[in-house]
Amino acid sequence: MQHALRLLNLRKSFGPVTVFDGIDLAVAPGEVVSLIGASGSGKSTMLRCINFLEMPDSGTVEVFDKGLSVEAGGMTRGQLHQIREIRKITGMVFQNFNLWPHRTALGNVTEALIHVLGQDAPQARDTAMAALEKVGMAGFANRYPAQLSGGQQQRVGIARVLAMRPRVMLFDEATSALDPELVGEVLKVLRLLAQEGNTILQVTHEMRFAREVSDRMVFLSQGRILQDAPPEELFTNPADEAVKRFLSGTH
Ligand SMILES: Nc1ncnc2c1ncn2[C@@H]1O[C@H](COP(=O)(O)OP(=O)(O)OP(=O)(O)O)[C@@H](O)[C@H]1O
Ligand SMILES: [Mg+2]
Repeated sequence: MQHALRLLNLRKSFGPVTVFDGIDLAVAPGEVVSLIGASGSGKSTMLRCINFLEMPDSGTVEVFDKGLSVEAGGMTRGQLHQIREIRKITGMVFQNFNLWPHRTALGNVTEALIHVLGQDAPQARDTAMAALEKVGMAGFANRYPAQLSGGQQQRVGIARVLAMRPRVMLFDEATSALDPELVGEVLKVLRLLAQEGNTILQVTHEMRFAREVSDRMVFLSQGRILQDAPPEELFTNPADEAVKRFLSGTH
């Protein structure tokens, strides 16, 4: 089977803090996998290592047929090329939207289409409008981020990623900066993306949502994967006290 995403023996420390101590994880094409675990367990760091926003200390990251093994020491030119190739086919949505404040919703989405994919302006506009349409934001294309609610800004953030047609989507708590009444509109978009067969690795604290859309849930603790199982199994048969405590909200 070809993997959409595979991590082999991934290791990462920050000074004395070991975040991962040899993580192995594989995600199949079309799978939706949710990463869960206590604050500080390394969920964000794992997503950031996948597109090399953070450099793993060692280990291998493969996204479809693009892969890179890291060992201690500097990067060769070939490795930098592989990082660019991996970034081209992964898209990441952050908790805090990270939109350009001085660009409209449309401008935010066209930016990378023009400067990274090399689309001309009319083509980028069409691609961007289709993406904004998909997240229900076509009617707000000319608004600036400051003129949009948090939920609307996040939907533009998702459109910006979607427009690039990534083969793997990474979401890091896409709804956790939102007021509760705005969470639903973003989950609706994520649900649609999951149902459409996109490959998604998401960090989320929305346990009900994770249970509903995930093919598997992966529980991280102390640098390791404590459980990797379909949601029903994880909820009915937590492999460890730490998983049980987390799911009951008493961690
Ligand atoms: N740039 C950094 N420099 C030093 N330590 C870091 C850095 N980034 C993360 N860490 C540490 O690595 C560990 C994992 O952090 P990470 O942000 O990945 O956790 P998380 O599971 O995403 O937590 P949360 O649920 O709070 O977002 C923590 O101990 C954190 O303090
Ligand atoms: Mg985090």
